[in-house]
Parts: sequence; C-alpha cells; structure tokens
Amino acid sequence: MTTPDQGHPSSDAPIGIFDSGYGGLTVFRDIRKRLPQYDYIYLGDNARAPYGPRDFDTIYHYTLECVQHLFDKGCHLVVLACNTASAKALRTIQHQDLPRIDANRRVLGVIRPTTEVVGHFSKTGKVGILATKGTVASKSYVLEIEKFFPDLEVFQQACPMWVPLVENQEHDSDGADYFVRKYLDALFAQSSQIDTIVLGCTHYPLMERKIRQYLPEGVNLLIQGEIVAVSLEDYLMRHPEIEQRCGRGGSVRYFTTESPAEFDEKAGVFLGETVHSEHLRSC
Ligand code: DGL
Repeated sequence: MTTPDQGHPSSDAPIGIFDSGYGGLTVFRDIRKRLPQYDYIYLGDNARAPYGPRDFDTIYHYTLECVQHLFDKGCHLVVLACNTASAKALRTIQHQDLPRIDANRRVLGVIRPTTEVVGHFSKTGKVGILATKGTVASKSYVLEIEKFFPDLEVFQQACPMWVPLVENQEHDSDGADYFVRKYLDALFAQSSQIDTIVLGCTHYPLMERKIRQYLPEGVNLLIQGEIVAVSLEDYLMRHPEIEQRCGRGGSVRYFTTESPAEFDEKAGVFLGETVHSEHLRSC
C-alpha cells in the first residue's frame, strides 16, 4: 500500500506519465511542449515491456504497481501514456482502486481522447486501428469510437513485432520494413477504403518514417501525442481543483525499472536532450 504525499506539499505535485517503456515518451514530448510549466515524472517499466502480449491480470497488476509508485512520488494526476494499460487497467484502477487509495487522485488514459476526434478525419467512414494484441483484443477502440461516431466502421490490426523493434532500437533498421509492410497489408486487406489510421500504441510514432513509406497515398495517420496533450490541457482547465495541485517548476524526472544508463541513451536520442534517469525496482 502506498503512503501518499510523503514530503510533498499538495500544490507541488508533479504530473505522472507512465508507459511500459519508451513509447510514452512520444506522448510526453507533446505534453511538455504544450504544457511546459508543470513538473513531471516519467516512469517506463522497461524491465517488463512489452505489455502488449500479456494477459489482462498481469497488465492490470503491473500498471497499478507503477501508478502507486508515481503516487508515492507525490503525483496526484497520472496519465497512462500507454494504450495497452489504458485498455486493460484504466477502468479498474479508476473505479476500484482510486476510491480505496485516494479518491482525490486521478488517472487518465490515451484511448478516450483519440476516439473523441478520430471521426473528424475520415471521409470514407472507414478507419483502421494499429495496436498491440492486448489493445486489439480488448476492443476498447471499437467500443469507444461507437459512442462518439456510431457510423464509423472500425478495422483493427495487431502489430506484435513493432514494440520489440522499438524497445531494441531496431525500428529504423532494414529488417523493420518487412514487419511494417506485413501489418499494413493485413489492415488494408480488411478494407481498401480505410482513409484514416490511428497509431493506437504509443511506441508506433517512433516508426512513423517507415510507416509513411508504405502507407497508400491520401491516408491520414493519427498520432496521439498532440491529441492527448490538447485533451490534458482541456481537462486541467475544466478541473481547477486538480490543476491547482500541479507543481509549476517545469522540472522533469525520469524513472525506469531497467538500466538507467540504457534508458538515458535511448530516451536521450529520442528526445534530443540529455536524460538522467533513476532506477526504480519493480516487484
Ligand atoms: N506503448 C504501449 C501502448 O501504447 C505498450 C506497448 C507494449 O508494451 O506492448 O500500447
């Protein structure tokens, strides 16, 4: 059990950003660009990534544990910058765990903000979701899109090799092309009229260059970072009681459950700045 707020005055709370690994950095980069005034803690559970192929219970327990770590470090608001965790753990954490841990804290995900806007991009009414096996199996995108855009037809394709390529820094290598083509072909085999694709895994924007290379002309590629950043800004405006608790020092701390040296190197290349992460032990 966490001991919330240890040593953290309530108006100093950093915003927690969580992902299974490096993918959440694609969301964090856009959040920080849009909302640079706040303090942040990024936690990557690199030691246990990928989450995508794991079962519901495992993803839920890993995610809850990481959320508790972020609460322990003073966060009042945590963004699950991970579709798999948003699909498989968010609802249970919001409804079952938060009331028990601290009803004043909030955990948000990345699926809802994306499904709120996706329909504005499609003319054919057919959209594709590229995501992990776990996210696809949860049908979270299909169910959420149905609420906002009931006329949209949604096609899903799991891309299980993409996260390992990113986590192992092979996403720009020649070998990655095969797996980019494989999953895009499988998606368009379901419907050639898909005109909008959601990168429904925060690791995938790191493969954007290669994905665009094989994308049919005129197809929109939706990347979540900016969508989530705009949605977070809107959320903070609508919830002053949460916003007022957020620290405004513009600081960032990084934590990884794997080797900090490796995290610093990979995250540094991606963010284009020096990163000094700290190690956090996962159970
Ligand atoms: N980046 C995460 C997502 O958005 C998880 C990838 C994984 O660990 O499999 O789904």
